[in-house]
Amino acid sequence: EMIHRRKKGSEGSVGHTVLHTHTKDFEGFKNLFHRFLQVKGPSIEWIKIQRPPEDSIQPYDKIAGRGLPDNVADCLNKLVVVKLNGGLGTSMGCKGPKSLISVRNENTFLDLTVQQIEHLNKTYNTDVPLVLMNSFNTDEDTKKILQKYTHHRVKIHTFNQSKYPRINKESLLPVSTNLSMNGQSAEGWYPPGHGDIYASFYNSGLLEQLIAQGKEYIFLSNIDNLGATVDLHILHHLVSQPNGKRCEFIMEVTDKTRADVKGGTLIQYEGKLRLLEIAQVPKAHVDEFKSVSKFKIFNTNNLWISLAAIKKLQEQKAMDLEVIVNPKTLDGGQNVVQLETAVGAAIKCFDNALGINVPRSRFLPVKTTSDLLLVMSNLYSLDAGSLTMSPRREFPTTPHVKLGSSFTKVQEYLTRFESIPDMLELDHLTVSGDVTLGKNVSLKGTVIIIANHGDRIDIPAGSMLENKIVSGNLRI
Ligand code: UTP
Repeated sequence: EMIHRRKKGSEGSVGHTVLHTHTKDFEGFKNLFHRFLQVKGPSIEWIKIQRPPEDSIQPYDKIAGRGLPDNVADCLNKLVVVKLNGGLGTSMGCKGPKSLISVRNENTFLDLTVQQIEHLNKTYNTDVPLVLMNSFNTDEDTKKILQKYTHHRVKIHTFNQSKYPRINKESLLPVSTNLSMNGQSAEGWYPPGHGDIYASFYNSGLLEQLIAQGKEYIFLSNIDNLGATVDLHILHHLVSQPNGKRCEFIMEVTDKTRADVKGGTLIQYEGKLRLLEIAQVPKAHVDEFKSVSKFKIFNTNNLWISLAAIKKLQEQKAMDLEVIVNPKTLDGGQNVVQLETAVGAAIKCFDNALGINVPRSRFLPVKTTSDLLLVMSNLYSLDAGSLTMSPRREFPTTPHVKLGSSFTKVQEYLTRFESIPDMLELDHLTVSGDVTLGKNVSLKGTVIIIANHGDRIDIPAGSMLENKIVSGNLRI
């Protein structure tokens, strides 16, 4: 069951920490590599795909409509919040862990997460812990920063995900045979995707420790999804299921728009809910997959999972996640592949799995500086680490923002905005080329600013642009 991942931009390499490869890592890699060799042909047969049964994806309103119990604290005491923190900020031009990028009022993704959980703990007098899954790329920098939260009311645990060898595309031999600390072999290794969490969490011993403390569920999400806050209604739904009908896995999905046609979707397959990713779709069906009418929802990667069920599946070696083959080109030009797995693919392994169709606001990922502009602006307000859409915006949708390549890196992006423009009435913004915006600019409706090669456009401080196209050369 193999998935070929569509090529992404190549990632920066790591400069340090070549760690000792753990025996468990080696076992894990051997298993993944073995499955990679064994599998032939596509992982799904298109004709066997069925629409998920009516009650397997429930509307959020139905879940929330039941209200909250008096014992919210009892529910919270069964919960652990987990953030996937293995990734770097490379695609936004930053060094180090992505979670340490400032996103709003000098607060990083990690700061906001800690504030959210601390707020919960103070409000309900609970001790919901935060668990970070680090990778060898992010562990050292993250741990340094964690010291600043010592006096916050959140217990923070970390564990490391595995470190696997990249293999040459043709020979399938490992790229690096060198485990030395000189950094030379850094390109030879990679963190094998977020599906690695099940094995790494289990192997770290932390899973066991949390179960022993009476924890029952994790709420897991991408650290860069600012909408992934602890939802008490979903939590209550989980813990109030009658015994025997215990739901072991909830995937939060949300309605697809034409902008997110690539996200994985839920299907019914061989009697179970299953995640279908675009990379698994035969070429002839890709358009069908992308259509908003046939596959209406996509995976937000906000997942609620039973700790006991993870333990059981790990011990039974029953977590067979599809192998994702991710091609890369190293700095020296060598073509390699890295074998990965995705956390959501495990849905098929759990009993009574459920999809919940949540409001779009629970999916607020920051992948690019265009996303960053939105979350830094007055479209959102910040309250105890959570962002909510400003009530002063008249439409519930977010504007469509497309910043050009001179804005890709966070540092350059920041120098180009003297202050973040007022965007409350904005629908669409395209900016391209050598453009700067002065203080207190206001953008409304559709605004397009294009400086062609060799030109420069400086939007003067205090400007109000409403349904405007600006091009040519405009210096101040
Ligand atoms: P990705 O970089 O994979 O984002 O990281 P994506 O492509 O939007 O998401 P998917 O893969 O399609 O779901 C998503 C989250 O997973 C973490 C990143 O740090 C980020 O929070 N991650 C990714 C890990 O922790 N480990 C990995 O090996 C890969």
